[in-house]
Amino acid sequence: MFSVEEIRKDFPMLDNKTMSGKPLVYLDNGATTFKPYSVIEAVTNYYTNQTCNAHRGDYQLAADVSAQYEEARDAVAKLIHCQSKEVVFTSGASMSLNLAAYGYGQKNLQKGDVILITEAEHASNVLPWFRVAEVTGAVVEYIPLTDEGRVTPENLKKALHDKVKIVAFAAVSNVLGYVNDVKELVRLAHEQGAKAVVDGAQAVPHMEVNVSEWDIDFLAFSAHKMCGPTGVGVLYGKYNLLEETDPFMLGGGANARFDMCGNVQLKHAPFKFEAGTPPIEGVLGLKAACEYIMSVGYENISRHEHELRTYLTDQIKKLDHVILYNPNAETGIVTFNVRKIFSQDVASYLGTKGICVRSGSHCAKILVNFLKTSDTVRASLYFYNTKEDCDALVEALKTTTIENCVGIFF
Ligand code: ALA
Repeated sequence: MFSVEEIRKDFPMLDNKTMSGKPLVYLDNGATTFKPYSVIEAVTNYYTNQTCNAHRGDYQLAADVSAQYEEARDAVAKLIHCQSKEVVFTSGASMSLNLAAYGYGQKNLQKGDVILITEAEHASNVLPWFRVAEVTGAVVEYIPLTDEGRVTPENLKKALHDKVKIVAFAAVSNVLGYVNDVKELVRLAHEQGAKAVVDGAQAVPHMEVNVSEWDIDFLAFSAHKMCGPTGVGVLYGKYNLLEETDPFMLGGGANARFDMCGNVQLKHAPFKFEAGTPPIEGVLGLKAACEYIMSVGYENISRHEHELRTYLTDQIKKLDHVILYNPNAETGIVTFNVRKIFSQDVASYLGTKGICVRSGSHCAKILVNFLKTSDTVRASLYFYNTKEDCDALVEALKTTTIENCVGIFF
């Protein structure tokens, strides 16, 4: 039985914390999430009881840590429904998308090929493709958004043509919070002979993502947005594609052998991508995060977030001075502006009330054309948020006036 009151006891950051002298209300989960005790303990246990390198020692401690490191790969594989050898540990979703772009895209694209992205993409799913286009002579084109800002199969069909070799899109937009029909988008990309690269940063923490059933070629996500540690993330790739992909970082742990003549034999995926000592404590923390998410259950997570979002947006809609940009989104991302007040001033004012939200472009700078504003305020919910958190935001918004926002400094 899902009980948000019980869940909240698992998170030290939800234990009577304050900010600016007010009870802390954390609504910035799109940026990063709080960590449960089990994740914190996995990290501290590594430092307290298990410190040694992984895959490098011939003693019992190293064997145990190496085994747990690989069990983390198994836990991720179980979470997203793939084989363990298809899970590459990276520093986060950004590195994962860069790896797919440089390691696979740059190797396989030629002059005139097309990389199809959307206007709603986060910088990490835009800038690597710009670079790959510059280097290879490929061209970046865009899937048009619907009037509501969605990426639909119908619009993908309009943008697809025989030069398209890569289709890259987020499963869930980090600004508008829409859940895309990933399975159908991937099917259409494949029908055209293109590979599908999916940014799962705002999806994997919140909903079941089945890379096998959806036939995704590459999927990127970060641990820290799903109750795990910062500095670690995942690139999933179909195994044959990972084998075709070049690492952009080489070093210890990634090679089988090399000699003075420059002959290098790399290990097979996923190890060829994991040069250098990895963030071992982060990987062990990610394992604990996967187990935690699975114990809460995606069904409960999605349902609770959707209920809360409906509760929050129903109230925001009644505030005439607030513009809501995504009233019909499916996830806990609620994006708005207060009329005539700069988004950062709104966020700073809310901060004085103990409320954490994000303001600005949210790293999705091309979306300004659609939003017709360069910046917004984003409240992003997670399964440990409550109706009281939503009420606090709504009450604070009622008093968000130009006068109240003037002269707030940190
Ligand atoms: N990418 C994170 C966000 O959307 C930081 O807030």
